[in-house]
Amino acid sequence: MLAITKKKKKKQESKRKETQFTSFVYSTFKNLLLRRILEPCLVISTLGALPQLLISPGRSPIAWMASSPDLQFDPSRIPKEAVAQVPEGYTIRPLNVNDYDKGYLELLSQLTTIGTISKRKFAERFDLLRERNESKYCIVIEDLGRGIIVGAGSVIIEPKFVHECGMVGHIEDIVVDNSARGKNLGKLIINALTLVAKHSGAYKVILSCAEKNVGFYEKCGLKAKEVTMANYL
Ligand SMILES: CC(C)(COP(=O)(O)OP(=O)(O)OC[C@H]1O[C@@H](n2cnc3c(N)ncnc32)[C@H](O)[C@@H]1OP(=O)(O)O)[C@@H](O)C(=O)NCCC(=O)NCCS
Repeated sequence: MLAITKKKKKKQESKRKETQFTSFVYSTFKNLLLRRILEPCLVISTLGALPQLLISPGRSPIAWMASSPDLQFDPSRIPKEAVAQVPEGYTIRPLNVNDYDKGYLELLSQLTTIGTISKRKFAERFDLLRERNESKYCIVIEDLGRGIIVGAGSVIIEPKFVHECGMVGHIEDIVVDNSARGKNLGKLIINALTLVAKHSGAYKVILSCAEKNVGFYEKCGLKAKEVTMANYL
Protein backbone atom coordinates (compact mmCIF):
# COMPACT_ATOMS: atom_id res chain seq x y z
CA MET A 1 0.00 0.00 0.00
CA LEU A 2 2.83 2.33 1.04
CA ALA A 3 4.72 1.46 -2.12
CA ILE A 4 1.66 2.30 -4.25
CA THR A 5 1.24 5.70 -2.52
CA LYS A 6 4.95 6.44 -3.01
CA LYS A 7 4.69 5.51 -6.69
CA LYS A 8 1.62 7.73 -7.07
CA LYS A 9 3.40 10.65 -5.37
CA LYS A 10 6.44 10.20 -7.61
CA LYS A 11 4.17 10.18 -10.65
CA GLN A 12 2.42 13.35 -9.45
CA GLU A 13 5.77 15.07 -8.81
CA SER A 14 7.06 14.16 -12.24
CA LYS A 15 3.81 15.42 -13.83
CA ARG A 16 4.17 18.69 -11.87
CA LYS A 17 7.75 19.11 -13.10
CA GLU A 18 6.66 18.33 -16.65
CA THR A 19 3.90 20.97 -16.45
CA GLN A 20 6.37 23.49 -15.01
CA PHE A 21 8.81 22.80 -17.85
CA THR A 22 6.08 23.04 -20.49
CA SER A 23 4.89 26.36 -19.11
CA PHE A 24 8.49 27.67 -19.00
CA VAL A 25 9.03 26.69 -22.64
CA TYR A 26 5.67 28.18 -23.59
CA SER A 27 6.30 31.52 -21.85
CA THR A 28 9.84 31.79 -23.28
CA PHE A 29 8.51 31.10 -26.77
CA LYS A 30 5.65 33.56 -26.27
CA ASN A 31 8.06 36.31 -25.11
CA LEU A 32 10.37 35.63 -28.00
CA LEU A 33 7.52 35.78 -30.47
CA LEU A 34 5.99 38.92 -28.97
CA ARG A 35 9.08 40.96 -28.14
CA ARG A 36 11.45 39.94 -30.87
CA ILE A 37 9.19 39.33 -33.85
CA LEU A 38 5.64 40.64 -33.56
CA GLU A 39 6.40 43.87 -31.67
CA PRO A 40 9.07 45.07 -34.11
CA CYS A 41 6.71 44.05 -36.95
CA LEU A 42 4.03 46.23 -35.42
CA VAL A 43 6.38 49.20 -35.03
CA ILE A 44 7.61 48.78 -38.56
CA SER A 45 4.18 48.42 -40.09
CA THR A 46 3.00 51.46 -38.09
CA LEU A 47 5.81 53.36 -39.72
CA GLY A 48 4.72 52.17 -43.10
CA ALA A 49 8.03 50.37 -43.61
CA LEU A 50 6.49 46.99 -44.20
CA PRO A 51 6.22 47.52 -47.95
CA GLN A 52 9.96 48.23 -48.00
CA LEU A 53 10.57 45.01 -46.13
CA LEU A 54 8.59 43.13 -48.72
CA ILE A 55 10.35 44.65 -51.69
CA SER A 56 13.87 44.46 -50.25
CA PRO A 57 14.10 41.24 -48.30
CA GLY A 58 17.92 41.45 -48.36
CA ARG A 59 17.81 44.24 -45.78
CA SER A 60 15.28 43.17 -43.21
CA PRO A 61 14.38 45.86 -40.62
CA ILE A 62 12.93 43.10 -38.46
CA ALA A 63 16.28 41.35 -38.38
CA TRP A 64 18.22 44.40 -37.19
CA MET A 65 15.52 45.57 -34.78
CA ALA A 66 15.59 42.17 -33.16
CA SER A 67 19.36 41.75 -33.18
CA SER A 68 20.47 45.31 -32.29
CA PRO A 69 17.87 46.72 -29.88
CA ASP A 70 20.26 49.45 -28.69
CA LEU A 71 21.11 50.95 -32.07
CA GLN A 72 19.20 53.86 -33.56
CA PHE A 73 19.25 52.41 -37.06
CA ASP A 74 20.42 49.41 -39.05
CA PRO A 75 24.27 49.60 -39.13
CA SER A 76 24.31 48.18 -42.66
CA ARG A 77 22.93 51.56 -43.80
CA ILE A 78 26.42 53.01 -43.30
CA PRO A 79 28.13 52.08 -46.58
CA LYS A 80 31.25 49.90 -46.34
CA GLU A 81 33.32 52.54 -48.16
CA ALA A 82 32.68 54.97 -45.27
CA VAL A 83 33.47 52.33 -42.65
CA ALA A 84 36.72 51.52 -44.47
CA GLN A 85 37.97 55.11 -44.08
CA VAL A 86 37.89 55.06 -40.26
CA PRO A 87 41.39 55.20 -38.77
CA GLU A 88 42.57 52.42 -36.47
CA GLY A 89 41.35 52.75 -32.91
CA TYR A 90 38.05 54.32 -33.94
CA THR A 91 34.71 52.98 -35.12
CA ILE A 92 31.85 54.60 -36.99
CA ARG A 93 28.35 53.35 -36.17
CA PRO A 94 24.74 54.31 -35.45
CA LEU A 95 24.04 56.06 -32.15
CA ASN A 96 23.59 53.57 -29.30
CA VAL A 97 21.26 54.23 -26.37
CA ASN A 98 24.26 53.55 -24.08
CA ASP A 99 26.22 56.41 -25.63
CA TYR A 100 24.65 58.53 -22.90
CA ASP A 101 27.39 57.03 -20.68
CA LYS A 102 30.07 57.53 -23.34
CA GLY A 103 29.97 61.31 -23.35
CA TYR A 104 27.61 61.81 -26.30
CA LEU A 105 25.86 64.78 -24.72
CA GLU A 106 29.14 66.29 -23.50
CA LEU A 107 30.32 66.12 -27.10
CA LEU A 108 27.16 67.84 -28.37
CA SER A 109 27.70 70.55 -25.76
CA GLN A 110 30.81 71.56 -27.74
CA LEU A 111 28.38 72.46 -30.50
CA THR A 112 25.52 74.17 -28.69
CA THR A 113 23.50 74.35 -25.45
CA ILE A 114 22.24 70.96 -24.26
CA GLY A 115 20.44 71.70 -20.99
CA THR A 116 19.73 69.02 -18.42
CA ILE A 117 18.90 65.65 -19.95
CA SER A 118 18.38 62.67 -17.65
CA LYS A 119 19.22 59.16 -18.79
CA ARG A 120 15.51 58.43 -18.97
CA LYS A 121 14.76 61.48 -21.09
CA PHE A 122 17.65 60.53 -23.34
CA ALA A 123 16.28 56.99 -23.72
CA GLU A 124 12.81 58.33 -24.56
CA ARG A 125 14.20 60.59 -27.27
CA PHE A 126 16.34 57.72 -28.50
CA ASP A 127 13.26 55.48 -28.78
CA LEU A 128 11.47 58.15 -30.81
CA LEU A 129 14.43 58.42 -33.18
CA ARG A 130 14.69 54.65 -33.41
CA GLU A 131 11.04 54.47 -34.46
CA ARG A 132 11.85 56.99 -37.19
CA ASN A 133 14.99 55.12 -38.21
CA GLU A 134 14.30 55.50 -41.92
CA SER A 135 13.99 59.30 -41.77
CA LYS A 136 16.78 60.37 -39.41
CA TYR A 137 20.19 58.74 -39.03
CA CYS A 138 22.40 59.65 -36.05
CA ILE A 139 25.99 58.57 -36.64
CA VAL A 140 28.80 58.58 -34.07
CA ILE A 141 32.53 57.92 -34.04
CA GLU A 142 33.80 56.16 -30.94
CA ASP A 143 37.39 56.25 -29.71
CA LEU A 144 37.72 52.58 -28.84
CA GLY A 145 40.75 53.07 -26.61
CA ARG A 146 39.06 55.64 -24.40
CA GLY A 147 35.54 54.29 -24.83
CA ILE A 148 34.13 57.74 -25.58
CA ILE A 149 32.23 59.31 -28.44
CA VAL A 150 34.49 61.77 -30.24
CA GLY A 151 32.45 62.55 -33.33
CA ALA A 152 28.79 62.91 -34.20
CA GLY A 153 26.44 64.04 -36.91
CA SER A 154 23.02 63.30 -38.32
CA VAL A 155 21.11 63.42 -41.56
CA ILE A 156 17.38 63.85 -41.98
CA ILE A 157 15.88 62.45 -45.16
CA GLU A 158 13.10 64.68 -46.42
CA PRO A 159 10.67 63.32 -49.02
CA LYS A 160 9.56 66.15 -51.33
CA PHE A 161 7.12 66.74 -54.19
CA VAL A 162 9.57 68.82 -56.22
CA HIS A 163 12.19 67.16 -58.41
CA GLU A 164 9.74 64.41 -59.26
CA CYS A 165 9.08 63.51 -55.64
CA GLY A 166 12.80 63.71 -54.85
CA MET A 167 14.48 63.35 -51.47
CA VAL A 168 16.79 65.82 -49.75
CA GLY A 169 19.27 65.06 -46.96
CA HIS A 170 19.59 67.71 -44.25
CA ILE A 171 22.91 67.38 -42.44
CA GLU A 172 22.76 68.48 -38.80
CA ASP A 173 24.75 68.67 -35.56
CA ILE A 174 28.25 67.97 -36.80
CA VAL A 175 30.83 67.96 -34.04
CA VAL A 176 34.25 66.47 -33.33
CA ASP A 177 35.70 66.44 -29.83
CA ASN A 178 38.40 69.05 -29.10
CA SER A 179 40.89 66.26 -28.46
CA ALA A 180 40.28 64.56 -31.83
CA ARG A 181 40.10 67.47 -34.27
CA GLY A 182 42.37 67.68 -37.30
CA LYS A 183 42.35 63.91 -37.90
CA ASN A 184 39.81 64.01 -40.72
CA LEU A 185 37.06 62.60 -38.47
CA GLY A 186 34.77 65.54 -39.31
CA LYS A 187 35.25 64.91 -43.02
CA LEU A 188 34.59 61.23 -42.46
CA ILE A 189 31.28 61.93 -40.73
CA ILE A 190 30.15 64.22 -43.55
CA ASN A 191 31.16 61.62 -46.10
CA ALA A 192 29.27 58.85 -44.26
CA LEU A 193 26.12 60.97 -43.88
CA THR A 194 26.27 61.97 -47.54
CA LEU A 195 26.50 58.33 -48.60
CA VAL A 196 23.63 57.35 -46.31
CA ALA A 197 21.53 60.13 -47.89
CA LYS A 198 22.55 59.08 -51.40
CA HIS A 199 21.66 55.44 -50.72
CA SER A 200 18.32 56.61 -49.32
CA GLY A 201 17.57 58.21 -52.69
CA ALA A 202 18.50 61.85 -51.93
CA TYR A 203 19.61 63.96 -54.89
CA LYS A 204 21.47 66.48 -52.66
CA VAL A 205 22.52 67.19 -49.09
CA ILE A 206 22.30 70.66 -47.56
CA LEU A 207 23.27 72.27 -44.25
CA SER A 208 23.66 75.60 -42.47
CA CYS A 209 26.89 76.61 -40.83
CA ALA A 210 28.82 79.44 -39.23
CA GLU A 211 31.09 81.50 -41.50
CA LYS A 212 34.18 80.08 -39.74
CA ASN A 213 33.28 76.54 -40.84
CA VAL A 214 32.75 77.29 -44.55
CA GLY A 215 36.31 76.17 -45.32
CA PHE A 216 35.74 72.83 -43.58
CA TYR A 217 32.57 72.08 -45.53
CA GLU A 218 34.25 73.11 -48.78
CA LYS A 219 36.94 70.54 -48.02
CA CYS A 220 34.07 68.04 -47.65
CA GLY A 221 32.86 68.85 -51.15
CA LEU A 222 30.01 71.26 -50.38
CA LYS A 223 29.57 74.68 -51.99
CA ALA A 224 28.03 77.83 -50.49
CA LYS A 225 24.58 78.41 -51.99
CA GLU A 226 21.86 80.87 -50.96
CA VAL A 227 21.47 81.99 -47.34
CA THR A 228 20.06 80.44 -44.19
CA MET A 229 17.30 82.31 -42.35
CA ALA A 230 16.02 81.54 -38.85
CA ASN A 231 13.20 82.61 -36.55
CA TYR A 232 13.89 81.39 -33.00
CA LEU A 233 10.55 80.50 -31.34
C1 LIG B 1 34.20 71.80 -37.71
C2 LIG B 1 34.67 70.48 -37.13
C3 LIG B 1 33.51 69.50 -37.16
C4 LIG B 1 35.82 69.95 -38.00
O1 LIG B 1 36.18 68.65 -37.55
P1 LIG B 1 37.66 68.04 -37.74
O2 LIG B 1 37.59 66.61 -37.48
O3 LIG B 1 38.62 68.81 -36.95
O4 LIG B 1 37.92 68.34 -39.28
P2 LIG B 1 38.77 67.42 -40.25
O5 LIG B 1 40.02 67.00 -39.59
O6 LIG B 1 37.92 66.35 -40.82
O7 LIG B 1 39.10 68.47 -41.40
C5 LIG B 1 38.94 68.19 -42.80
C6 LIG B 1 39.62 69.28 -43.58
O8 LIG B 1 38.99 70.53 -43.27
C7 LIG B 1 39.95 71.46 -42.73
N1 LIG B 1 39.27 72.23 -41.68
C8 LIG B 1 38.82 71.79 -40.50
N2 LIG B 1 38.18 72.78 -39.84
C9 LIG B 1 38.24 73.85 -40.64
C10 LIG B 1 37.75 75.17 -40.52
N3 LIG B 1 37.06 75.60 -39.47
N4 LIG B 1 37.99 76.03 -41.56
C11 LIG B 1 38.66 75.63 -42.66
N5 LIG B 1 39.14 74.39 -42.82
C12 LIG B 1 38.93 73.50 -41.82
C13 LIG B 1 41.08 70.60 -42.20
O9 LIG B 1 42.28 71.31 -42.17
C14 LIG B 1 41.10 69.46 -43.19
O10 LIG B 1 41.76 69.88 -44.35
P3 LIG B 1 42.65 68.87 -45.25
O11 LIG B 1 41.68 67.87 -45.83
O12 LIG B 1 43.27 69.73 -46.27
O13 LIG B 1 43.63 68.23 -44.32
C15 LIG B 1 35.22 70.65 -35.70
O14 LIG B 1 36.18 71.65 -35.69
C16 LIG B 1 34.16 70.97 -34.67
O15 LIG B 1 33.54 70.07 -34.14
N6 LIG B 1 33.94 72.26 -34.36
C17 LIG B 1 33.02 72.64 -33.30
C18 LIG B 1 31.59 72.37 -33.63
C19 LIG B 1 31.17 72.99 -34.93
O16 LIG B 1 31.40 74.17 -35.17
N7 LIG B 1 30.54 72.19 -35.78
C20 LIG B 1 30.04 72.60 -37.06
C21 LIG B 1 28.62 72.97 -36.92
S1 LIG B 1 28.00 73.62 -38.44
